[in-house]
Amino acid sequence: MTDGFRAVYGTEPTGVWAAPGRVNLIGEHTDYNDGFVMPFALPHATLAAVSPRTDGLLRVHSASGEVPGDIVELALDDLAPGRRDGWADYPAGVLWALRDAGHAVTGADLHFVSDVPHGAGLSSSAAIEVVTALALNELYELGLAGWQLARLCQRAENVYVGAPTGIMDQTASACCTAGHALFLDTRDLTQRQVPFDLAAHGMRLLVVDTRVQHAHSDGEYGKRRAGCEAGAAALGVPALRDVPHDGLEEALGRIEDDEVRPLVRHIVTENHRVERVIELLSQGGVRAIGPVLTEGHASLRDDFRISCPELDLVVDTALASGAIGARMTGGGFGGSAIVLVDSDAADTVTKSVQEAFAAAGYAAPRVFTAVPGAGARRAR
Ligand code: GLA
Repeated sequence: MTDGFRAVYGTEPTGVWAAPGRVNLIGEHTDYNDGFVMPFALPHATLAAVSPRTDGLLRVHSASGEVPGDIVELALDDLAPGRRDGWADYPAGVLWALRDAGHAVTGADLHFVSDVPHGAGLSSSAAIEVVTALALNELYELGLAGWQLARLCQRAENVYVGAPTGIMDQTASACCTAGHALFLDTRDLTQRQVPFDLAAHGMRLLVVDTRVQHAHSDGEYGKRRAGCEAGAAALGVPALRDVPHDGLEEALGRIEDDEVRPLVRHIVTENHRVERVIELLSQGGVRAIGPVLTEGHASLRDDFRISCPELDLVVDTALASGAIGARMTGGGFGGSAIVLVDSDAADTVTKSVQEAFAAAGYAAPRVFTAVPGAGARRAR
C-alpha cells in the first residue's frame, strides 16, 4: 500500500485505513423503511493510503480502477452533486459531504486497493466511501463516531452520486466487528453485535456471486422505494416499520394499489424475519434460521420482485442439494446469494451450483465462505 502510494504520488502516505464490504444475513430493503437489518462485514476490504493536503485539491488513484495509473484530480470547490467522474464520485462525494456539513477539510491524496468484488452486491462502493470518511476523520481530527461517518457516506451516495440507498451498507462497513453480525434498527441506528460463529456449530455461510452486474441508480431500486413510501402514506404511518406483523392482513386490505400491496407485505414480513432470526440465534438455534432465510428469498422474488433467474437458480439448486437455507442478498437484480450449509456439505452444494450454472449456459459463479470480519479501522 505504502509502496503504491509512493509510486503514484512520490511521497509517503500519512497512514493506511481499511473498510470492508458486507453481506446481509437478513433484512432486505427494510433499511429505507426504518426497519431492521442484520449484515456482517466480509474479510474483503478496500484499503486507502492517504495524506492530507492544504491546497484545496483532492487527488484519487485506484490500483484496480478502470484505467490503472490515472490520477483523478479535482478541486474541492468544484465538487457538486451531479458531477460525473466515474468511480471517483464515491471519494469525491464524501469530501463534498464533509465540507457541506461544515468540516474544514482542505484536501487529500488517496491511493485505493480493493479486493471487494465490484458490482456483486457486496457493497464495494460503501467500502470506498467509508474508508475515505474514516481516514479524513482521523487526519483532520473531526471526532466523528462510526454511525456519523455512515450517515455522511449515505448522504454522499444519495445526494452526490444520486443513488437513493438506505443506511445499511455504510453502517455495516463502519461499525461491524469480527465474529458478529450487526443487528441494526435503521430508525434510530441502535446497534447490537450478535455473536455469529457458524464454524462452532459445524456450519458455513457460502456467498455465491452470480456475476450478473447490478446497478442501484438504474431506476428499479428507486421504484421499490417509492412504492414503499406510497404504501406507508396509504396506511397513514411514518414508515412501513410501523405496520405490526399481526396487523398485516388488515393493513393489506386497506391498500388499493395492486403493485404496492406486495411491497408492503415483503417489508412487514421481512422485519418479522429479522426478529425471528435474532430470537433463534439468542436461543442457540442456528440451524433453524435456514428456513427463515429461504422464506426471505421467496418474498424478495415473488412480492418485491427483485430476484433474477441466476439468483433463483443458486437458491433452488443449493436447497435441492442439501443446503439448510438460501436467499439473494443485497439490492437484487443480480449480485450475490448466500447459502447456509453444513460444513461437510459445502463442497457438494458448491459443485451442484457450478454444474447448474454451466448447464444453463451462465458464466461460472464465484463461491467463497464468508466469516464475519472487522469493520473499518486504521491499518497502519
Ligand atoms: C443496497 C442498498 C442498501 C439496502 C440494500 C437492500 O445494498 O445500498 O441500503 O437497501 O440494497 O437491502
